[in-house]
Amino acid sequence: MAGKKNQRAFFCSDCGHETVRWLGQCPGCGAWNTLAEAPTESRSRKAHSGAAGWLGVSNGRPVVLQDVDEANEERISAGIPEFDYVLGGGIIRGSFVLLGGPPGVGKSTILKQVAARLNAEGEKVLYVSGEESAAQVKIRARRLGEEALRVAFLSETEVGAILRQAEEFSPTVLVIDSIQTLYSEAVEGAPGNATQIRHTAAELLRYAKARSIAVFIVGHVTKDGNLAGPRLLEHMVDTVIYFEHTGDVEHRIMRAVKNRYGSVDEIGVFRMTESGLVPVENPSAVFLADRSANTPGSAVTAVVEGTRPLLVEVQGLASVASYGSPQRVATGFSRKRLAILLAVLEKRARIPFGQLDVFLNVVGGINLTEPAADAAVVAALVSSVVDRPLPDGVAFIGEVGLGGEMRRVAQIERRLAEVASMGFTKVFTASKSAGVRTPTGLEVIGVSNVGELIREAIGPLDGLRQNSGSPGAPRRPAKEKRERGGRRVALAID
Ligand code: TYD
Ligand code: MG
Repeated sequence: MAGKKNQRAFFCSDCGHETVRWLGQCPGCGAWNTLAEAPTESRSRKAHSGAAGWLGVSNGRPVVLQDVDEANEERISAGIPEFDYVLGGGIIRGSFVLLGGPPGVGKSTILKQVAARLNAEGEKVLYVSGEESAAQVKIRARRLGEEALRVAFLSETEVGAILRQAEEFSPTVLVIDSIQTLYSEAVEGAPGNATQIRHTAAELLRYAKARSIAVFIVGHVTKDGNLAGPRLLEHMVDTVIYFEHTGDVEHRIMRAVKNRYGSVDEIGVFRMTESGLVPVENPSAVFLADRSANTPGSAVTAVVEGTRPLLVEVQGLASVASYGSPQRVATGFSRKRLAILLAVLEKRARIPFGQLDVFLNVVGGINLTEPAADAAVVAALVSSVVDRPLPDGVAFIGEVGLGGEMRRVAQIERRLAEVASMGFTKVFTASKSAGVRTPTGLEVIGVSNVGELIREAIGPLDGLRQNSGSPGAPRRPAKEKRERGGRRVALAID
């Protein structure tokens, strides 16, 4: 509409990007047909003065920081250690937490359990569901134990009505299940659309901050993570937690992807049982459970997620590329990092990855972002190329540099302890890590570069045919010539 600017605003339902006019493609994330009109500040403020103006915000006067009351940063325990970990050490009063995940993963279950624990500890909890009736919730809650039945429950979907009830009940913890079912009478549109989600979340946020209440909001995410709600809300909330399947039917992994009050590295692993979600105290066992040690291309590494080390399996598959440029597919690992490691292997160990399709998979839905996983990626890929399994009971920890050198990694002792506790007997790591405290029963083998790593862990590359190289082949540095006997290897396709 012509005339006053700033009267209209459009938001992308995928990434929340704001534009002043409608566009077919979102400039923020490139998605098509995702921009929807939302009320601008001035219009929504008018709406607030009716529905929620009574809540008031802070009185807006500047204060000297040393006079600020820190009571608001007080943490309360959810009663489930894994949940506390992921939040960065407990629940902050006045914090606004989004719990996203696919339907059926257990979002309602975990929040019912947390609500029950908090309620039993003396917090005043109000559980609002727009998805289930009180009777349905009771049936589910019974499975979770007596405590769960004592939580105050409200079945309501209009945000104004929820806030009025909350104002009367004055909870210290409020659970909203789910944001997609809420709507506000103050704005148009069906529940679940971008405008409604933004508006209802903004109302709840204002309430949470004004009354210093911890609010948990459930948001459903589709498998590809694309549903409007959670993505749109990530900018508004203090903490975003994702709850996902690990790959088997029982286990779930919880992690923070945004946390104003703590680290985002912590993960929590849970098992879904007949009586709710149970924290898994030894996640490494879960991630290694389905591993068949005698398969070529499988290597184990120890990563540190937050404060806790975790063993994960890396699977590599290299096969002769049939046509065109070879494929590079990585799940749970950066494609760029994979490309670098392949280039290093090609150059330093003379493995002709340029002729191979390469697939890399990190088992259990874990995302390996630490360079410490490099050594395992290298071992898994080379093991697949030569089609020989890596020795049993061996783990790989180390960063690989561009020169092929194995580099030391942080927190090596904690990783070694985890490796030992899972019954592994050998670890390959950077030779410079030698001298660290080693758990009994664990042999630590220091290697200085990828060539040495391959020789020690896999042996000669006899799956590769050695040839003398074409006349145009680049000259290798003298050192490497010695190491590799001055010959060039090519894939044997017999
Ligand atoms: P739910 O928490 O409803 O998932 P979400 O809210 O993420 O959509 O529960 C998911 C599944 O868990 C559901 O199929 C039932 C099952 N379940 C159990 O196995 N044990 C239990 O104790 C409960 C409450 C649910
Ligand atoms: Mg649910």
